[in-house]
Order: sequence, then structure tokens, then C-alpha cells
Amino acid sequence: MTSRRDFLRTSAGVGVGAAVGLGSARPLRGAPGVLRSRVAPVAIASGNGTEAVDTAFRMVSEGGDTLDAVVEGVNIVERDPNDTSVGFGGLPNLDGVVQLDSSVMHGPSRGAGAVACLEGIKTPSRVAVDVMRYTDHVLLVGRGAQRFAVSMGHAVENLLTDGTRRRWIEWRARMSDTDDYLTPEESGQEAPPFRNGGDPGMDMLDSHDGVRPQGTINCNVVNRDGDLSGVTTTSGLAWKIPGRVGDSPIVGAGLYVDNDVGACGSTGRGEAVIKTCGSHSVIELMRAGMSPTDACLEALRRVVTFTTEARLRNAAGRPNFNVNYYAVNKSGEYGGAAIWSGARFAVCSGGESRREDSAYLFERGS
Ligand code: GLY
Repeated sequence: MTSRRDFLRTSAGVGVGAAVGLGSARPLRGAPGVLRSRVAPVAIASGNGTEAVDTAFRMVSEGGDTLDAVVEGVNIVERDPNDTSVGFGGLPNLDGVVQLDSSVMHGPSRGAGAVACLEGIKTPSRVAVDVMRYTDHVLLVGRGAQRFAVSMGHAVENLLTDGTRRRWIEWRARMSDTDDYLTPEESGQEAPPFRNGGDPGMDMLDSHDGVRPQGTINCNVVNRDGDLSGVTTTSGLAWKIPGRVGDSPIVGAGLYVDNDVGACGSTGRGEAVIKTCGSHSVIELMRAGMSPTDACLEALRRVVTFTTEARLRNAAGRPNFNVNYYAVNKSGEYGGAAIWSGARFAVCSGGESRREDSAYLFERGS
């Protein structure tokens, strides 16, 4: 009888053979006289990922694995207390608890791993990698995800900073005029220094307190062999209902990688991305021949079509939120697009990383 593990070993072998048989562009590494692939490596990320793309690009240029490269890149932002959209220092949920979501996909092995509603671990992307490498599952959530993370050696820490706690306390006070929590004006306490935070990867939704921060980092890379990987990691929507899961840990929504085609990830309103299978859609559009930028724009048009709720539309009937896609294909072409103008993405294709303007569907204010 074939055991599950024997089956997995056999299927993995079939998968690799099939990929080559289907005409994958992977070169024959090291074979004398065989021309290596001419892909120029590139790393692309959301606007808060300039350091991430630097790191990812450097690692793949030195021959490192594509997934190790993007995860090392986003770890910089996950550990940064000043990026309030990701990891340590991320804005908390309704109860003041930071709950993190992340997914990873490794193109060459067709691997995927993810965690959702993970509390107390600064680098959820690393736990997602462990789910992929050390379990037979793809997605672990909540307490089970944390117990797994601890079993793999991750430390449980307090992810709130003084700054994010003060912002949550202020938000709680402004929730209602009829409860007993005092706003900074009522209590005479200084309001937390805040507002749109300066996080370049962060989008704001209109809400009862004027702005509703919603940020994330996505990072994707292609190496010189045309191999791809991607990662998306976030603290999700600020002040969310505990247990809310966004698009970031959902394979096909906040991230998708197909080593025959490309890699794509998203930031912005996760619910809209989940409903339209966003990143998977972008990959399928690229498979059909679209450039990364055109594929991102077409997937955003689907978001607009799916936004039927009056509460989510502005006076002109357009979405009152933003979604951003970031994509790179197997040839090293890349692009980013957003619903609204003004978004930027980070890219490194050698030398210094830079930010480029995202394509868009609508001018802000329209
Ligand atoms: N895109 C991040 C989230 O909605 O949680």
C-alpha cells in the first residue's frame, strides 16, 4: 500500500517532470554549452517595501532562494515598530490586540503556506514558511497557528507599541458619545501624534473617525532563472472585528505565484480582493498574454464591478477605498496598479531601489 508520504514524494517528482515537459523556461543549470536564461532579476513590493526589494534583489543576485529573499525583505518591515500596518507595531483590532495575517508561495516547488489571526509573533511570514515547509497544511489560524509557531521556536512577544496603544485608546474613546471613555479633548490629554502615519503602503478608508488605516506589504521576486516567489504580510484593517481575516493570507487573493507565469500580490481593502480572487486573476490574465500592468488594471476593474454596496461607493458611484496590485512575470516585466491615482510601488532591478507611480483607474477626487 502507498503511504501518504510515499504518495507526496511521488507526486512531487511527477510535478517537476510535468513542468519541464510543459515547456517551462527553466534553463538546464550548469550544463556546459547551454545558454542560461536571460531574465534580468527584479524585486517589486508595495510602497513601504524599498528596503525589502533591496534585500530580496541582493539575495537572489547572490544565488539565494527566491522565497528566502522576499521573506528576508519583508522581515525588515515586520520588525519595524514605525510601520503601523505590518507585524510589530501594527495597529490592533477592536479589542486592542494585534492579529497578523501572512502567506508565502515558492514558485519552483509550487509550495504555499499561510497564517491568519496570529497573535504575538513579530514575523508571521516566517511562520507561513514553516507551515509550508514543515506541515502537510497550507493555512493555520488563531491559537493553533500560535501554538505551531511556538513549537517551531518563534518567540511570543507584545506587538503593541506605546504609539499604537495610544492610537487605539483614542479610537476607542471616539467610538461613542454615550460611553465612559474620554477623548483627548475631554480628558485634557495630548492626542497621539498620528494621522496618515507616513506609511507609504497604507491606504485610508473613510470611517467614523475620519481615517481607517489599512496597510500591508507584498513583495515578489524573479531570479535570473525565471524562478519566482512572493509573500504578503499585514496586521490587517485597523480596529477590525476580532477574527477578521483579510486577503493577505488567502492564496489566490492577497498573493499568487505560478512559476510558469508570474507572481502577484495586493494591498488595500482585503474584502474586495477576496471577492474577486484578485492575485489569481492577475496571474491568469498574464497567462493569457497581458502585461503585468494591464493585468493589474483589468483585475481592478473587476473589483469596481463587484463593489455594489452603497456604503462602499462615493458620490460618483466609484469605490471609496483603494486596492493595489503588484506583479512581475517570468520574463522580468513588472507593474503596479491601483484603483485611485497617487499610489506608488517599490522596485529594485539593480542599483538603488526606487519608487514608481502605479497605473490607476480613477483620478483622486473624481
Ligand atoms: N489587504 C490587507 C487586509 O485587508 O487585511
